[in-house]
Amino acid sequence: MKPQLPNVTRPGSNHTGIALHPDFAADMLQGTEEFGPTTRGGADQLAENRIRVAQISQPAGTMPPTLDVPIENLPLLDKLGARLQFERTGVRLYQALISKLDAYGTFPGGPSRADLEQIRDEEHRHLLLVQDIIEELEGDPTVVTPCANLQAVASRGLCDVLVDPRTNLIECLEAIMVAELADHESWELLATTAELMGKSDLGPRLREGERTEAEHLVKVRNWLVVASQLATKAVD
Ligand SMILES: [Fe+2]
Ligand SMILES: [Fe+2]
Repeated sequence: MKPQLPNVTRPGSNHTGIALHPDFAADMLQGTEEFGPTTRGGADQLAENRIRVAQISQPAGTMPPTLDVPIENLPLLDKLGARLQFERTGVRLYQALISKLDAYGTFPGGPSRADLEQIRDEEHRHLLLVQDIIEELEGDPTVVTPCANLQAVASRGLCDVLVDPRTNLIECLEAIMVAELADHESWELLATTAELMGKSDLGPRLREGERTEAEHLVKVRNWLVVASQLATKAVD
């Protein structure tokens, strides 16, 4: 097994900053004059182009034809589809995080394997809850809704961090924090949307999901605080 959590903030072989090579700085600046931009225009032209393309684009996603689904359920089904997608990804993220713990070990005050397995299982329960609600609303849980597609694209980098074999447990907890923040906010918004639509029977079930996500957030935040304290001590 690898040594516990290599301290990546110690001096290493990173040469990205210019301060390490002031002698090359002047050459670099001269290079920008010699080899100018390969295209004309600036930020204004970029913005103009973005707007032009946006105005002729189609939506990135749509809901399926609504032959059997009450049309008033569609906005909620779209958001439920996003939670289903995100919870599925959440299970995979925690599975990958458990591998990090097995590979790199944990740290004093950090998560145990049982802690991470519990959260993974809660993400899985959320997935099943959302699936049940979609079916109750006469939707199809296999649909990739527009919101689901959006969240999948937005969270792509998190998966990249978790499956990179070089990232350790603490680095992956940083990525998990981003996921938990987004997840908690999204459960809150989902519950509010259901209440606004008069689906008061769904409110308590969705609020329960939000409460569990709030617990996840507190746990991950505490682990990262302890990790920061340990990193600070390691530098002393
Ligand atoms: Fe979740
Ligand atoms: Fe969570």
